[in-house]
Amino acid sequence: MFSLKKVAEESIPTIQALAEKTWSIAYASILPPAQMSYMLEMFYSTNALIKQMQQGHQFIFVADEEKAHGFASYSTKDLMIRKEVAIHKPANHYRLHKLYISPDQQGKGLGQLAMNFIVADIKANGGTEIELNVNRSNKAIEFYSKYGFQILRHEDNDIGNGYFMNDYVMQLSLK
Ligand SMILES: CC(C)(COP(=O)(O)OP(=O)(O)OC[C@H]1O[C@@H](n2cnc3c(N)ncnc32)[C@H](O)[C@@H]1OP(=O)(O)O)[C@@H](O)C(=O)NCCC(=O)NCCS
Repeated sequence: MFSLKKVAEESIPTIQALAEKTWSIAYASILPPAQMSYMLEMFYSTNALIKQMQQGHQFIFVADEEKAHGFASYSTKDLMIRKEVAIHKPANHYRLHKLYISPDQQGKGLGQLAMNFIVADIKANGGTEIELNVNRSNKAIEFYSKYGFQILRHEDNDIGNGYFMNDYVMQLSLK
């Protein structure tokens, strides 16, 4: 029996272990190993995760009675935009930052379960749309499309060290 729960700083080691496990497979044919390590450090170091939580990113686990099999995080969109730009972004616009299901549990409906929980939580807080970035070579695009997300645009984001994130920005309207 799987359940969804909101988690905080005490769950950071589990988030890091799940991220390493899912990334090493999901991005094996997409990112060079050095870029994968760079990005894991950038987005999943203990300091980075604490900062995200302090900035209001909500983390959740998909878990059974024994352990977590996946995690996700989301927040209002203005939290991750520079202040001068955020003025134009209403607080009812959300971003899904992370969604990862353990490789041995993928394709069993857990991603959909997590999305349903996230959408319900965001709607309950007055959210009207969810945006996300997904690598243009990631099979997860089909999962998001099936859920109702639409591709808004391409984005090539410079993340330093000569690396880029070659993404689609996708959006789901909750209205
Ligand atoms: C993408 C991911 C979150 C989807 O979660 P999941 O538990 O595997 O997906 P579900 O079993 O809930 O699938 C829901 C629906 O999407 C479809 N789907 C899921 N992954 C798919 C894929 N790669 N290609 C096509 N369809 C897919 C399923 O067939 C299912 O359709 P159905 O309801 O008609 O049967 C998960 O596979 C994952 O973590 N992948 C690796 C990490 C990743 O890329 N995360 C996204 C980062 S942006």
